[in-house]
Amino acid sequence: MGADPRRVEAALSTGYRHIDTAAAYGNERQVGEAIAKSGIDRADVFIETKIWISDYGYEQTLHGFDKSAGKLGVDQIDLLILHQALPSEFGKTLEAYRALETLLADGKVRAIGVSNFMVDHLTALLDTATVVPAVNQIEVHPYFTQREVQAFGAQHGILTQAWAPIGGITFYRDSGHTSTLQDPVIGDIAREHGKTPAQVMLRWHLQQGRSAIPKSVRPERIAENFDIFDFQLTDEQLATIDGLDTGRRGGPEPADITLAGMRIAAVTEPSERVHAYHVRRPHEQNRALH
Ligand SMILES: NC(=O)c1ccc[n+]([C@@H]2O[C@H](COP(=O)([O-])OP(=O)(O)OC[C@H]3O[C@@H](n4cnc5c(N)ncnc54)[C@H](OP(=O)(O)O)[C@@H]3O)[C@@H](O)[C@H]2O)c1
Repeated sequence: MGADPRRVEAALSTGYRHIDTAAAYGNERQVGEAIAKSGIDRADVFIETKIWISDYGYEQTLHGFDKSAGKLGVDQIDLLILHQALPSEFGKTLEAYRALETLLADGKVRAIGVSNFMVDHLTALLDTATVVPAVNQIEVHPYFTQREVQAFGAQHGILTQAWAPIGGITFYRDSGHTSTLQDPVIGDIAREHGKTPAQVMLRWHLQQGRSAIPKSVRPERIAENFDIFDFQLTDEQLATIDGLDTGRRGGPEPADITLAGMRIAAVTEPSERVHAYHVRRPHEQNRALH
């Protein structure tokens, strides 16, 4: 479940046990409070969070862990990942990852990984890393599947975790696509199973071995997105959904990420995307991302 603090409790009571958050979302404190308030044993909840690029470097990332753990109110984080590669300063990215390895060796985190790493980033990382990342969290939905990144991950034992798993980025941001939720092919498959398009997309991820972290602020959708364990897509249906890939990315281009070019501002209005942040590039429109 992608974290929205107002709905973490609803997600936990529905049965979700994995919450994805990030330092950059500015909501770790609320997520930690919601988990504590739920009364569910800490050992039964899997907390994933991300180090933002401004905290890259060995010492900075160790400190980044302290900040995140402090806000979450936990001693140990289940999965700590680097939010993006920083290609313009890749040495700092490697140092940040080395800090994750130290945190793992010290038992402060149970697993480490990366996000938005492309094949060249993973290749360079594996050249120096002593621990293979457990997870690479990347944009994957029917319109953008990043097959080569997934294949590289599979070859090296890196689990692909899909962000925007139901294609949120195709409709909450102008990605040049229509919404995956309105796709007629997915709609037909959904009708055949008496399910919704969101449920079909989540099932597609699970049957292809990906982790998926859908986000919703609405309790009925949180429940809907969890109700995917009573049907099975056929191989043909899986292949049909694979065939919808347009090759067009919705999120920022990982190769273009720079510290100077990305400025984060917390969204202050109590909108449904309390954990969204804006990424601004000098000559581009603001882009709201999770
Ligand atoms: N690593 C990264 O760079 C990165 C980037 C983006 C996201 N993420 C993570 O991935 C999580 C999920 O990604 P995402 O939020 O981008 O996209 P998503 O989960 O694919 O889609 C979320 C959008 O879909 C709507 N929605 C949810 N369930 C629905 C349903 N059953 N039917 C119709 N609409 C539904 C939500 O609206 P309502 O809330 O109104 O229901 C929201 O607008 C985030 O929360 C975050 O944890 C990571």
